[in-house]
Amino acid sequence: MHPALYVLRDAFRAYAASEAPDIAAFCGVDLMADHPVRPLEITTLPFVRHLNDIAAQTEPATHSIVEAVLEAAPHLHWRQSYSEVDPGFDAEYLARYGWFNLIAPSGPFVSDSLRVSVGYWGKGLHYPRHWHEPEEIYLTLAGEARYISEGRADVVGGPCTTICHRSNQPHAATMEIAPLLAAAFWRGTSLEAKPDLPSRITE
Ligand SMILES: [Fe+2]
Repeated sequence: MHPALYVLRDAFRAYAASEAPDIAAFCGVDLMADHPVRPLEITTLPFVRHLNDIAAQTEPATHSIVEAVLEAAPHLHWRQSYSEVDPGFDAEYLARYGWFNLIAPSGPFVSDSLRVSVGYWGKGLHYPRHWHEPEEIYLTLAGEARYISEGRADVVGGPCTTICHRSNQPHAATMEIAPLLAAAFWRGTSLEAKPDLPSRITE
C-alpha cells in the first residue's frame, strides 16, 4: 500500500487526538487500531487533477490532513455513490464530485466498525437530502458548505466544522460559495451501503 495512505491515516489520528475530542470519542479505539490493509485498485475522477486548487481554502488545524489528501490523491480508489439515474445528479454534477474510503470494511484500512471517507464537491453543487443507517460526523477539511439537517437550523461551516447526524437523520449540503473537501466518520451497521435518497427532489 502506498505510504501516502499511512500518512493520511496518521494525520486524521493526530487531528482527532489534538483538535477534535468529539471525533476521537465517536471513533474510539477503531481509529487507532492496527488495521489490516487491503490495497484497492487505483481509480481517478475528472476533478482529481484540479484538487490542489482547494489547498488554499483550509486552515492551520486541518492543513496537514488536506496536504495528506493531496499527496495520496493519485494513489486512491476514487468513486461515486450516485449516477445519472439518481434524482439531482447529472453529468456536470458527476464531473465535480467523488469520494474515497480510507478506513472501511472493504479497505484500504480494514475496519468492520468504523468508516472514514473523504469527499469532494465542486462549488455550486447541492448534495440532495439523503440518509443512512450509520451515525455520522462530517468534518470540513477545506472550503465551505451549508449543512442542512432535519430538525436543526442550517450550519454554514468552513474548516474544522463538525456536523453530527443520528442514524437515518435526513440531511443535505449546499456548496454555495466554495467547493467542499470533507471527511465523513461513520459507525454502526451497513457501513458501505449507498445512502437513501427520496424518489423525488424536494429541497
Ligand atoms: Fe451523510
